[in-house]
Amino acid sequence: MENPPLATVRTIADLRARVREWRGQGLRIGFVPTMGALHDGHITLVRTAKTRCDKVVVSIFVNPTQFGPNEDFDAYPRNEAADLDRLVSAHADLAYLPTVDIMYPPGTSTTVNVTGLTERLCGAARPGHFQGVTTVVTKLLLQVLPDAAFFGEKDYQQLKTITRMARDLDIPAEIAGVPTVREADGLALSSRNVYLSPTQRQQALAIPRTLQALAQRLAGGADAGPHLRWGIDELLRGGFDSVDYLELCDAEDLTPLTHVGARPARLIVAARIGKTRLLDNIGVGPI
Ligand code: PAF
Repeated sequence: MENPPLATVRTIADLRARVREWRGQGLRIGFVPTMGALHDGHITLVRTAKTRCDKVVVSIFVNPTQFGPNEDFDAYPRNEAADLDRLVSAHADLAYLPTVDIMYPPGTSTTVNVTGLTERLCGAARPGHFQGVTTVVTKLLLQVLPDAAFFGEKDYQQLKTITRMARDLDIPAEIAGVPTVREADGLALSSRNVYLSPTQRQQALAIPRTLQALAQRLAGGADAGPHLRWGIDELLRGGFDSVDYLELCDAEDLTPLTHVGARPARLIVAARIGKTRLLDNIGVGPI
C-alpha cells in the first residue's frame, strides 16, 4: 500500500489551521513531540498514537533550553530529510518543524517549573534541564492542542514530570506513556546511542543486564542498599566511567525506596561511558 502524504508546517499559524480543520471534522488528534534523530522508539510512539487517534502530529525541535552550557546541543544528531522519510513510513499525518525564533521569540520571559519531581536524579546532574523540557512541552501542547500526547518510558522522570505538569496546569490532553523499545540484545533505543563506539556499544549492555539482575534481587522485598551498591560496581566493572545514579524509586512520585513494597517501584539509572550519558529504567514489584 502506498504511504499517505505527510504534510509539513513550520509556523504556529499553519499548524493551528491544519489541526483546526481536523478538529472541525470531529477527528481525535494525537501528538508526539521529538527532537528528531528518529529511531524505532519514536516510530513506536507514532504507531501507538496512530492506533488511538485519527491524526498524528509529530514535532521535531532540538530544544536549546533543555541543554546545559557544556552539553551536546551543537553535536546533537540532526537529519531532517531522514526523519521526514521515517515519519512517512510510520503514517504520521503532520510534521511540525518550528525554528528557535518561533519557539522563543525575542523577549520571551516565561518558564514552567515542576517542583518535587525534578530536583533529584537527572535534575541533580543537569540543572535547568527539566525547566527547559516542561517549558517547551507546555508551549508545544498549547500550539498543537492534542487530545493525547505520547512520551517514551525510557525518559521516565520526564514522563512523570510532564504528567504532573499537565495535571497541575489543567492542560486538556491525556499524557500517555509508551514502554521502552530495546535492541534485540536489550539496549534501550536512544538518539545518543550513535555516539557509542563499537566497544562502548557492547559495554553499554551492562545497563540492561544489571537492571534485570537487580529487579530479580529486589522483587521479594530485600533491603535495596547493598544490591544497588553491587549494581553500581557492576556498571563500572562493565566499562562505564561513572554512574550519576542507580536508585529504587516509587514509580509515581520517584521518591527513593529502601525496598520494594506494596506500591509499584522503578529501578532507574543514568551512567556515563566516554562522552555519552545513557538512561534506562524498569518496573519492579509490587510484592
Ligand atoms: O524527549 C525528548 O525528545 C524531549 O525532551 C522533548 C519531550 C521532545 C522535549 O524537547
